[in-house]
Amino acid sequence: MKFFIDTANIDQIKEANDLGILDGVTTNPSLMAKEGIKGQDNILKHYVDICNIVDGDVSAEVIATDFDGIVKEGEALAELHPQIVVKVPMIKDGIKAIRYFTDKGIKTNCTLVFSPGQAILAAKAGATYVSPFIGRLDDISNEGVELIQQIVNIYTIHGFETEVLAASIRHSMHIIGCAEAGADVVTCPLDPILGLLKHPLTDIGLEKFLADHNKK
Ligand code: G3P
Repeated sequence: MKFFIDTANIDQIKEANDLGILDGVTTNPSLMAKEGIKGQDNILKHYVDICNIVDGDVSAEVIATDFDGIVKEGEALAELHPQIVVKVPMIKDGIKAIRYFTDKGIKTNCTLVFSPGQAILAAKAGATYVSPFIGRLDDISNEGVELIQQIVNIYTIHGFETEVLAASIRHSMHIIGCAEAGADVVTCPLDPILGLLKHPLTDIGLEKFLADHNKK
């Protein structure tokens, strides 16, 4: 299972990358705005800066919602850097654009996916990644991790090559659930990744080892 970090914050990307466990980055317009990245030139430069930190795929989301606009923006994003994956929303013109990008060899991430049917369409269009948002499903009393299980099952039965990229991850147990469900990728903020490190018995055990070592 690959680990992506879901942020546009350069310090957090560097911190996760320095751990040696980072396989890529996902961003979205809200995450870019949170970092105060505004204006087309600054946004494009920020994507290149991220690509220069990590080795793996970096998802950059289009703003347009019509086919021509998505294609124009997506082609410009893809030209920025070989690591860029064009993130396209799960709408009718988005699916058409994903098919267009797939046929041109441009990698895509189909975002804002909340149902197995949407995931089937993304796979049929040849998306490189599909991004089911599990935290937002939990927010409305649906089981987000169950959706990951369903999509993984459907893709396995039918041999779809689209990778299941579990998104909208809010805590470490989401990561464990997605791992058990067979997600290909989890994209999460830094805190849930660091949360995986924690266990009180590790802290207690380490304290005792060090105390015993230092006994005179
Ligand atoms: O990758 C999608 C993710 O950023 C959405 O997360 O927490 O806003 O639902 P959240």
